[in-house]
Amino acid sequence: MTSTSEQPLMVARTADTGEANPYLLGVYAPVGTEIDAEDLQVIGEIPQDLNGVYLRNGPNPRFAPEGRYHWFDGDGMIHAVHLENGKARYRNRWVRTKAFEAESAAGKALWTGVMENPKDNPFGNSHGLGLKDNANTDVVFHRGRILATWYLCGSPYAVDPLSLETLGADDFLGTLAGDMMAHPKVDETTGELFWFDYGPRPPYLRYGVISADGRVVRTTDIELPGPRLPHDMAITEHYAVLMDLPLVQDLAAARQGRHKLHFDRSLPSRFGVLPRYGDGSQIRWFEASPCYIYHVVNAWEEGGEVVLDVCRVQRPQPRADAHTPLAKMLSYLRLDAQLHRYRFDLRTGACRETPLDDDNTEFPTVDSRGVGRANRYSYAVHISPESTLKFDGLVRHDNLAGAKTEYRFGPGRWGSEAPFAPREGAAADSADGYLVTFVQDEREGRSELDILDAADLAAGPVARVLLPQRVPLGFHATWVRADQLENLRS
Ligand SMILES: [Fe+2]
Repeated sequence: MTSTSEQPLMVARTADTGEANPYLLGVYAPVGTEIDAEDLQVIGEIPQDLNGVYLRNGPNPRFAPEGRYHWFDGDGMIHAVHLENGKARYRNRWVRTKAFEAESAAGKALWTGVMENPKDNPFGNSHGLGLKDNANTDVVFHRGRILATWYLCGSPYAVDPLSLETLGADDFLGTLAGDMMAHPKVDETTGELFWFDYGPRPPYLRYGVISADGRVVRTTDIELPGPRLPHDMAITEHYAVLMDLPLVQDLAAARQGRHKLHFDRSLPSRFGVLPRYGDGSQIRWFEASPCYIYHVVNAWEEGGEVVLDVCRVQRPQPRADAHTPLAKMLSYLRLDAQLHRYRFDLRTGACRETPLDDDNTEFPTVDSRGVGRANRYSYAVHISPESTLKFDGLVRHDNLAGAKTEYRFGPGRWGSEAPFAPREGAAADSADGYLVTFVQDEREGRSELDILDAADLAAGPVARVLLPQRVPLGFHATWVRADQLENLRS
């Protein structure tokens, strides 16, 4: 094992109010060391037909936070396990964002976070939010690179999927003006990447397409009634689906320079279906009941309809008893979402919505080769009822059979987003593959990579790869297949 020495972290608790911030402690406590470790110990056996790399992003503040700390504020750190011929290697690296480099040079935090007044911040992103672009949210594989993205729209940082070296903010050969949201969609059939950018001033939403050779080939403004907080989008074979959801900025608070959200139940949820290369004026809006949606499962075309599966949040506003900023943060982070289907009829303009499951599941995933095409299987994590966000199990939904299978990690064991990793040679969307996830054991303070047979989740892991350090709970993950890495080398 080799380890890169880094400055020790000075993060323990937020001291301004005397309240302990659970998102800096225990299973969330950041790690201060960047490690390379090879030939990791395995309980069970890593399948020989599973080759590739699992990467997971998440917040990991390098320095003690300035002011109140929100879980979304931490510097992005990617933890990766590379599986090859039955062996496993681990590596973790911070994403070297411009802000990370500036703070590293200063030896302290320079930015305050989302719970502080942005106007007091000395720096800003392209939307003038005054917050640090920390690239901590997702890891998206495109054109041989990982894009580390940020939920408030930032520079997509290109990262080498094996070395985890930050290659820099990717402007796509100088063609990307503005920022990119956290969850751009890759069509592996065409090699294109679909994304949007949003901000507090008109145009509130801008949609675009990046070609397989890495150039922005389309951007168009999408007219919205006001600033919104879209988190995800969908693609189908011919369309993009964008969202206008009634979790809106409180305009009175915004005028006073405060960041406050308001769930306006008088407004519908609106879904915009736009031809992939269309102009914003061609968008067709479909209205449904008010909700918020963080994550799309998938979308596809079926007859004259576009079908959209999501994890739908029915009550996105904080609980009434959340009075302090910390209590509000904890309340907002109590994710409660259910699998839900929308059908948008392009012939009649009708919208139908159907709840598919009443369990609290999130961070959904499908076989990445089938994004935008009808899927039989989707996967998600199950959210525990604990007071902070923890994933206590994995779920597989079968669209054809209308069936659900589950696995729970067990007491005190918490997972990460678990992408589907197809077995080498497996047909797309066949459940012929694995789910791969980090699991942190809270009682032992240790982490491992668990590999489960997607066709038999209930059987539990077929292999548990023991990691050389604890991996704090975090955000999004992806699986990059060996054949995608091969393309990279050729
Ligand atoms: Fe997300």
